[in-house]
Amino acid sequence: MIQAAVLGYGTVGSGVVEVIEENRSVIKRNVGEELHVKYILDLRDFPGDPYEKKVIHDFTQIMEDDEVKIVCETMGGVGAAYAFTKQALAAGKSVCTSNKELVAAHGPELLALAAAHKCSYLFEASVGGGIPIIRTLNNALTADRIEAITGILNGTTNYILSKMEKEGASFEAVLKEAQEKGYAERNPEADVEGYDTCRKIAILSSLMTGKSVNYEKIYTEGITKITARDFAYARALGMSIKLLALSRRVGEETLAMTAPFLISSDSPLYTVNGVFNAVLVKGNMLGESMYYGRGAGKLPTASAVAADVVDCARHMGETLTCFWDAGEAALVSMDNVARRFFFRVKAGCKERIEKLFGEGLQEIQLPEASEETGYVTGVMKEKEFAALYEQIADVLAGSRIRIEA
Ligand code: HSE
Repeated sequence: MIQAAVLGYGTVGSGVVEVIEENRSVIKRNVGEELHVKYILDLRDFPGDPYEKKVIHDFTQIMEDDEVKIVCETMGGVGAAYAFTKQALAAGKSVCTSNKELVAAHGPELLALAAAHKCSYLFEASVGGGIPIIRTLNNALTADRIEAITGILNGTTNYILSKMEKEGASFEAVLKEAQEKGYAERNPEADVEGYDTCRKIAILSSLMTGKSVNYEKIYTEGITKITARDFAYARALGMSIKLLALSRRVGEETLAMTAPFLISSDSPLYTVNGVFNAVLVKGNMLGESMYYGRGAGKLPTASAVAADVVDCARHMGETLTCFWDAGEAALVSMDNVARRFFFRVKAGCKERIEKLFGEGLQEIQLPEASEETGYVTGVMKEKEFAALYEQIADVLAGSRIRIEA
């Protein structure tokens, strides 16, 4: 029998215990022996919980118990979670986590520590919730050079944008409703400002390049400036608006960014709605493949952590491979990236706009909005667009949105 411990009995941690205990027989078949959760570490007690007897408050109990071979870190944050992860790996106990903050900040260090102590550091649940995208990059697409990754990686913002699109509602109204229903955090900043997505694309970009992509250097823009009117223009263009995470190879360098984009109905990501996530991966041999599923929520995320536990249990005494070195990947500036842009200006400045933006400009006049006009530019570099956009600051009627080809 293999014994595991769970650190943090919140939404994901309790889900992990539920998955391992309820799917005991299928996990036994897949591991080849029984797998149990021996301890649940939390500061709180859980009277009446079916697993209350497993709850402990002292991490050293786990460290001193040689029977515990696998630790699930579902605490979150980079404080105690980081310290406990290092201690466990240094003692040869594998760690499986959903903690994208910790993985994005210290991934290579923790992978090296695991390798030095013949155990594993696995983080399937840190990106895309229940979608097995990390395993796909590490174990399935290993004969391809990955050229690009494009993802909808945050369930909360995709839920908000989908609802704004469907109901013509404002960002503020949908966010409030999402908070009431528990789909968005009381402090929604990490989701709506794009920080969560940024960390996830940093992890995927690191696996794509095999080097460390520093999340602090990734251009990140959230969805707080997107309005119901923007969706009306999107509809007129046959497009949708999604918070995308992009990672592309540009020569020997990498372009990584997070921002809202207008995407056409031809994009496979167009129909990804609600809390669902999807990751589009382009390999140089395979071409495009897409991975879709629930990107957030207790059981989908817990299922991914538990699958990592099963993997560790099947490879006791080994280190599961992950190609992610500590050396920093070179990121390209967005300045020279060329794309089309959408922007809105007040009525009465058509001539000025046409003169500035020249060829390839497309005008969109919504019947219900005679006080303003929308425009889609021809293909131009970010820095060229930014320079022109600055010149029309006095007549803007909304914020610009990039267009993903
Ligand atoms: N807040 C995150 C989301 C949770 O909405 O996607 C999963 O990482």
